[in-house]
Amino acid sequence: MSGEAVCRAGPSLALIKYWGKSVKGDNLPATPSLAVTLGGVYSETRARVADDDSITVDGVRQDTARFAPFFDALRSSLGVSVRFQAASINTFPTSAGMASSSSGFAALAGACARAAGCEPSASDLSSIARVGSASAARAVYGGFVLFPAGARRARPLFGPEFWPELRIVIAVTHRGPKPVSSRRAMEETRAGSPYYFSWIKESAALLPDALRALESRDLELLGETARRSYSLMHAAILGACPPILYWLPATVAVIHGCAALRADGVGAWETIDAGPQVKILCLAAEAEKVGRRLEELVPGIQTIVCHAGPGLTWREPRGEA
Ligand code: PMV
Repeated sequence: MSGEAVCRAGPSLALIKYWGKSVKGDNLPATPSLAVTLGGVYSETRARVADDDSITVDGVRQDTARFAPFFDALRSSLGVSVRFQAASINTFPTSAGMASSSSGFAALAGACARAAGCEPSASDLSSIARVGSASAARAVYGGFVLFPAGARRARPLFGPEFWPELRIVIAVTHRGPKPVSSRRAMEETRAGSPYYFSWIKESAALLPDALRALESRDLELLGETARRSYSLMHAAILGACPPILYWLPATVAVIHGCAALRADGVGAWETIDAGPQVKILCLAAEAEKVGRRLEELVPGIQTIVCHAGPGLTWREPRGEA
């Protein structure tokens, strides 16, 4: 055992969103989710065995209390008692609604397991990562991933090679952290939104269409189903008391920009997580045009073109992270 490891994970972008925790606790999701793991951006975590648990993200020391349930679940699942010092970096804005917690916890689980000299299965890593952030259960796998409601671990459906023409254009509308964490906003949606239970029901009803669309690589059906999922999710979030609004003027402008692109015959379907960024599904042949048109329409935004990427990868722990 080297006592040190470096692991990389791409963010898990949900097409059918997870939003809400099961009453059974243990950070189990109340809704099913279907996601694509992004390639082109990633979190990379270096972990080493240490005297105590500690973690930095992009050089900033994190509150260990937030990470305690994760580290405890990790040790119990691996059957080890060691502690970890971890340093994580993201190649994209952190805590800004770009799913950094999904890739962050997935890479943390992978790095700590190897640093402890363990080789758990991807399925066990998915279950461990879930304790940190439910969406991280999906980011352990590459390609297209299903996370059923109430499940402890995600399930890989298709590898990234299944849909090589698919592109995801990220429109970065703001670089700062989001005002309300997803964890707190989920709780406030459940406690205060009269639409919460409708959201839980409707979200599950969207899954069959999304799966059918994915299996047949029908981008229009997948895009329209993804639009419905994020719209219903944000409607429920807006119903929290007081309301939570993640969107900025540029977010709304990008939504309108996508509608304008579709009206011009360009296939561009947006989705939005708990933050102001917009992710647009399109085909490789049109990705550059989508990014360019949106940057022209909405001054100040920056676009990044991603594709379906791999699951966890490890590299030799030489040099600094
Ligand atoms: O896994 P969390 O706690 O970061 O929540 C993720 C919530 C969304 O990104 C909005 C949706 C999703 O399924 O990833």
